[in-house]
Amino acid sequence: MIITIANQKGGVGKTTTSVNLSAGLAFMGKRVLVVDMDPQANSTVSFIDPHGIKYTVFDLLESTEISIEDVIHPTNIKNLDIIPASISLAKLESKLIGEIDGHFRLKDRIESLKHKYDIIIVDTPPTLGLITINTLVAASHLLIPIQASYYALEGTDDLLETYEKVKSRSNPDLAILGVLITLYDKRTIIAKDSEDHIKQLFGNKVFKTIISKNVRLEESPAYKESIFTFAPESRGAIEYQKLAEEVLNHG
Ligand SMILES: Nc1ncnc2c1ncn2[C@@H]1O[C@H](COP(=O)(O)OP(=O)(O)OP(=O)(O)O)[C@@H](O)[C@H]1O
Ligand SMILES: [Mg+2]
Repeated sequence: MIITIANQKGGVGKTTTSVNLSAGLAFMGKRVLVVDMDPQANSTVSFIDPHGIKYTVFDLLESTEISIEDVIHPTNIKNLDIIPASISLAKLESKLIGEIDGHFRLKDRIESLKHKYDIIIVDTPPTLGLITINTLVAASHLLIPIQASYYALEGTDDLLETYEKVKSRSNPDLAILGVLITLYDKRTIIAKDSEDHIKQLFGNKVFKTIISKNVRLEESPAYKESIFTFAPESRGAIEYQKLAEEVLNHG
């Protein structure tokens, strides 16, 4: 299962979900790989020290001389590896424009890893450009985090249109794994309202697990830890554990 976590809206919890869902699955004994496809490299720095990394996902996608082993790094978590990103990934789009296999680079380069890992989780940037298209072409499933806020659904039609285009042309097997409601603040009416709107639009595609606003989730990346070791008793840990279980049941 290759899950791309995408929403072109910024700050909706894509990276927080990549980091903690992948850690949750690894702690459950699954062999997990995170592929960081965001030039901001937030998932990368949540797991490893970016200094001293020789090759990143940019090198893998740009050059056929880099082998996949050169870009896979172990993390502090057993069963969890990462292909890191760096700011250089921002150059990828201009390099791929006009290339005949431009949409297929990621798919082609990670093909050989399908048997090495049970689950591959791909973090994406807040855009619908060629980088995100590459992740949709490579994926078996799409997970859409949506922040429970006033503008929650803004932009989702563009995301769904891109999903449909990729599905009809390049990746017919792509499926929506689920919509994840994030940054939920149960004290506010707006959170409940947006939850209702999201459920109206996506019906049974909405995960039962909702991720609440939780300060521990915000703090853990600074300590290079997932929520499960940083604050194992926190609401964030409990909810991401539940999400990991739900994802496994779907799969
Ligand atoms: N459930 C949560 N509770 C509290 N803070 C959260 C939660 N989820 C995410 N955050 C914080 O909100 C900010 C945005 O989250 P995150 O980086 O995961 O979003 P993103 O969608 O990956 O953003 P971008 O589009 O920039 O990549 C971060 O500071 C993160 O620590
Ligand atoms: Mg992010």
